[in-house]
Amino acid sequence: MSDTTPDPSSQDPRLSSSGPAKNLGKAISKLDLDGHDLPPSPAPSSPRNGKRYSLATELVYTEGTDQYNASSMPIYQSATFKQTSGGGGGEYDYTRSGNPTRTHLERHLAKIMCAERALVVGSGMGAMDVITRLLRPGDEVVTGDDLYGGTNRLLKYLSTYNEIIVHHVDTTNPSRVRDALGPKTAMVLLETPTNPLIKIVDIPTVARLTHEVNPKALVAVDNTMLSPLLQNPLEFGADIVYESGTKYLSGHHDLMAGVLAVNDSALGERLYFTINASGCGLAPFDSWLLMRGIKTLKVRMEQQQSNAQRIAEFLESHGFHVRYPGLKSHPQHELHNSMARGAGAVLSFETGSVQISERIVEAAKLWAISVSFGCVNSLISMPCRMSHASIDSKTRQERALPEDIIRLCVGIEDADDLIDDLSRAVSDTNHYCAPPLTKIFQLVLAGAVKLTPDGFRAAEHGPPANLDTLSNNIF
Ligand SMILES: Cc1ncc(COP(=O)(O)O)c(C=O)c1O
Repeated sequence: MSDTTPDPSSQDPRLSSSGPAKNLGKAISKLDLDGHDLPPSPAPSSPRNGKRYSLATELVYTEGTDQYNASSMPIYQSATFKQTSGGGGGEYDYTRSGNPTRTHLERHLAKIMCAERALVVGSGMGAMDVITRLLRPGDEVVTGDDLYGGTNRLLKYLSTYNEIIVHHVDTTNPSRVRDALGPKTAMVLLETPTNPLIKIVDIPTVARLTHEVNPKALVAVDNTMLSPLLQNPLEFGADIVYESGTKYLSGHHDLMAGVLAVNDSALGERLYFTINASGCGLAPFDSWLLMRGIKTLKVRMEQQQSNAQRIAEFLESHGFHVRYPGLKSHPQHELHNSMARGAGAVLSFETGSVQISERIVEAAKLWAISVSFGCVNSLISMPCRMSHASIDSKTRQERALPEDIIRLCVGIEDADDLIDDLSRAVSDTNHYCAPPLTKIFQLVLAGAVKLTPDGFRAAEHGPPANLDTLSNNIF
C-alpha cells in the first residue's frame, strides 16, 4: 500500500459503493484489496483451494508468501521499503501506509471476523476514532447509556468540539433507538453486552430499524466483550465491527491494539485512508504479538467462560444480584443466545455498599485490581471508580449505574481457587472493624451481606437506604 493512496471520499463524502473507491478496486482487481498477491480474500489466510475450516482451525491456520516459509510471520521492523525504480512500484513503501506483518494480521482477522476487510490500529479507542472521523458537523449519533467510559469521553469530545449531536438512549430497548433515529442519524454505535451493566442489544433489530429510517446511516458495533469467537455482528446487519485488540484477541495485556472490520470495500477504503493519513496503523511488533495471541483465543476464551459461569452461579446462589448472560435469570439470556455462541467472561454484581465493595476488591488476592478485561489472569474492579470514572457521577446516576457495582473479568486460573479467594475477600470485610464496632458493623452488614456459620449470604431484599452513611462511621 502506497503513501500516495488517494482519498476515496474526495468526490462523495458519504459512503456509497460507487465512486472513486470502487474504481480504485477495479484498477487493482488482479490483486487483493490491499494490492497483494496473497491467498484470496475474504478468507485471506485460508488455503488457496478456498476451503473454510471451523473457527478453531482458522484461528491457528495461516498461509503466507514468506520466501523461507517461516511458520511464524516475520516481523518486518522497517519504516521504509526500497523501491525498484524512481517511480516506486514496490508492494510496500512506508510502514505508516502498509507493512507486511500488519497486512498478514489484517488478512487473518478478516478471515476470522467473516469480513471483506479488516484493519488494525494502535488501540480500541484509536479504532473508534477512525470510525467517528466519518462523521461531519451536524451529524447525529445514537448510542447507548451504558458505554465504556472511554467511548463516552470521545463522544463527549465530538459533541463539544465537532458539532456532532449524540443521543444516549437505552439501546437494549429497540423502541428507544427507533424514537431517536431520524434523517440526520449518521451512525448508531452499539456495545453488547453493555459494560458493566451487562445488558444485551438486539443487533439485528436495531440494524434493521436504523437502515429503514436512514439507509445511509452506519451501524457500528463494539464487539470487544465477546470477540469474533463468540459473535460476528456483521452477520446481523452491522456495517462496521470494531474491537479493542488489547482484550481477548491478544489475551495477555501485553499490547494495545484496535481492530476494524467491514464488508463494504468502499467503506474499508475510507477507513484505511484515515489510518494512513493520521498514522495510527498498528506497529509491526504489536501486529506480530496480536497475531500470536489470536491463535490461542479459543482455548483461552473457553476456559475463561466456563470459570465465569461457575463464579456467576456461585455468587447468585449466595444471594447476590449477578449480571451475566450465561445465567438463566438474566432477563435477556435468550436474546443473547440468539446472537452469540457463548456468554463471555465478564460479569458484575452488587453488594449494596460502595465501601463494602471497596473492601472486597482490596481483599481479593488472586483477582488483580485492574481496569480492562480479556487477560489470562482474573481481574476485579469497581467501574465507577476506575474504567467509568470519566463519566461524571450525575450522569452515572441518570444512567442507573450502581456506584457499588463490582466487575469481575475472569481468567484461566482454577475456578475453585478463584471462588475460594472471592469468598475469603467477602468474609474478610468483617476483619476491618475495630472490636467495639464489630456488632454495629454486622448489623450494618446484615443489610447487604449476611455472615453465616457456613460463610456468607447476600441480603434478599437489598441493603437499607442509609447503609453507606452507617458504613462511613465504621470504616
Ligand atoms: C468495550 C470497550 N471498548 C473499547 C475499549 C477501548 O480499547 P483500548 O483500551 O484498546 O483503547 C475498551 C477498553 O477497555 C472497552 O472496554
